[in-house]
Amino acid sequence: MRILVTAGPTREHIDPVRFISNRSTGKMGFAVAAEAAAAGHDAILVAGPVSLPTPSGVRRIDIVSALDMLAAVRGELDGADILVMAAAVADWRPAAVSALKLKKSAMAPSIPLVPNPDILREVAPLKGGRVFVGFAAETGAPDAEARRKLADKGLDLICANDVTAPGAGFGTDTNLVTVFGRGGFRLELPLMPKRDVAREIVRLAVEAREARDGR
Ligand code: PMT
Repeated sequence: MRILVTAGPTREHIDPVRFISNRSTGKMGFAVAAEAAAAGHDAILVAGPVSLPTPSGVRRIDIVSALDMLAAVRGELDGADILVMAAAVADWRPAAVSALKLKKSAMAPSIPLVPNPDILREVAPLKGGRVFVGFAAETGAPDAEARRKLADKGLDLICANDVTAPGAGFGTDTNLVTVFGRGGFRLELPLMPKRDVAREIVRLAVEAREARDGR
């Protein structure tokens, strides 16, 4: 199968040297791509600005902003069977990007922002028989919010991680994830290495895709 994965943060530039971003390091998404390739799938990784090496057997597309990520996902979705959105996409970007470094004296104390497109919602009309997997970065009990995002974004599976739990979320080598699916499916995984979480996610997504094909 062909598995398209997004990872890392997006960077929303204010000028050539300043940007808005978040704490994602790409570890979770890179682990998903690595496990997909290790399981013999064709893995494509759309990566925000991170400092991780490309996992063996993975084709990598580097992007910077949410708009770049949307274009890359749109461009690769056609041949994909599964999309896993592990990236932490910035919800907002500066309304204007200066081509030159802004002088401190010319900067206003606030930056006008405009909303970024929601990538999962943008590509929902192209879903067809594909399996879409999202992540939900939550603070506190994830169930209600994860189920809301599952339905709201038209997903097959959503992996909720409590990003305030020790050893979970941004930058850690482990994660604490509960996977939610359609029809009340709920699988609570213990705290474990992101590679092991990733292996479970790839397994569940492939199973869902095979079930759709009637295999
Ligand atoms: O990269 P690491 O340091 O390993 O950290 C991993 C992680 C915490 C970033 C990862 O496990 C994670 O939770 N990723 C999703 C974070 C997030 O943006 O959650 P959200 O609840 O804001 O978004 C829900 C889903 O919608 C996500 O699949 C997200 O990729 C997607 N989304 C969000 C915003 C947007 N504009 N477009 C989207 O498609």
